[in-house]
Amino acid sequence: MRIFLTGATGYIGSAILETSLRSGHQVTALVRDPERAEHVSLRGGRPIVGELGKPAGYVAAAEDADVIVHAASERSKRVVEVDRLAIETLTGAAGRRIDSGHAAAFIYTSGVWVLGDTSGPAAEDSPLKPTPLVAWRPEHEELVRSLSRGGRIRTAIVRPGIVYGGARGIISDLLKNAKNGLVRVVGDGSNHWPCVYDRDLADLYVRLAVHPDASGIFHANDEADERVADIVEAIARHVMVQPDVRHVPIEEARAKMGQYADALALDQIVRSPRARALGWTPTLHSVGGNVAGLIEEFRSRQEAAA
Ligand SMILES: NC(=O)c1ccc[n+]([C@@H]2O[C@H](COP(=O)([O-])OP(=O)(O)OC[C@H]3O[C@@H](n4cnc5c(N)ncnc54)[C@H](OP(=O)(O)O)[C@@H]3O)[C@@H](O)[C@H]2O)c1
Repeated sequence: MRIFLTGATGYIGSAILETSLRSGHQVTALVRDPERAEHVSLRGGRPIVGELGKPAGYVAAAEDADVIVHAASERSKRVVEVDRLAIETLTGAAGRRIDSGHAAAFIYTSGVWVLGDTSGPAAEDSPLKPTPLVAWRPEHEELVRSLSRGGRIRTAIVRPGIVYGGARGIISDLLKNAKNGLVRVVGDGSNHWPCVYDRDLADLYVRLAVHPDASGIFHANDEADERVADIVEAIARHVMVQPDVRHVPIEEARAKMGQYADALALDQIVRSPRARALGWTPTLHSVGGNVAGLIEEFRSRQEAAA
């Protein structure tokens, strides 16, 4: 299968790249930094150097793919504008592929933060109450659906939990901070985070890519229902020197980190029944139960990057 991937140098995208290549698919990846493009080629992907915001540079490559996976995310104030343009460009490419007599699919990356605080276990049909940081995201989920040409373009929307594994992301930051002796937790830590191992998440994307009928929304989390305090405590047990754990009141955290603080303070219990119905079974079932292995992964990824 020919896959066109955005975000291949990112946390989620690099896991998708690896799993897709390992599963025997051809991956063409949009990469904005020529040096990073070389890493993609070394791993067996075909990089195209370009920018999400400049569709002319990548639209033809997207049009040539059986499945388009959008896992890139601009880290600037232009995030909403650039994401909208990418959705329009990529679904447009998929539409033209359909017009030329082929099947086409588009997989979009959203996230569980669109659910806001959940009052009980939230599945894919639960109402959305997005935390302010991702207030724009439900509209983009809707845009993906509205541009599917009445379902002729197969579209899937993945809502990953907080990703763990490797050396990036929120959980890796906790590991790093614990090693350095000080972990900050927004609030009292009694809130739950839905989490997912990076390779399990990538496995779901590949399942969605190859499954001819998979469409709609898919949550992706390990369903461990871990409290932040329990995650931090499990990590603290595995580092040489006990770190200080500082609970930062939400107002103080907001003053420092803005809306990101509210996202970290979310209390979410999430279920992923639609992914499980596809046969997706996470291989790791929690952060807390796998800290030793995660620390080892963190160390080896950091050494490899050095
Ligand atoms: N990480 C999580 O725990 C998590 C959980 C749920 C949902 N999500 C969502 O998943 C998506 C990906 O997250 P992530 O953690 O993988 O992010 P990430 O590590 O920051 O990766 C972002 C990727 O997008 C690329 N990119 C950014 N701006 C671009 C542009 N203008 N043109 C082309 N490429 C561009 C980056 O390229 P460079 O390498 O050149 O910077 C990188 O490959 C985001 O939408 C995020 O909200 C993430």
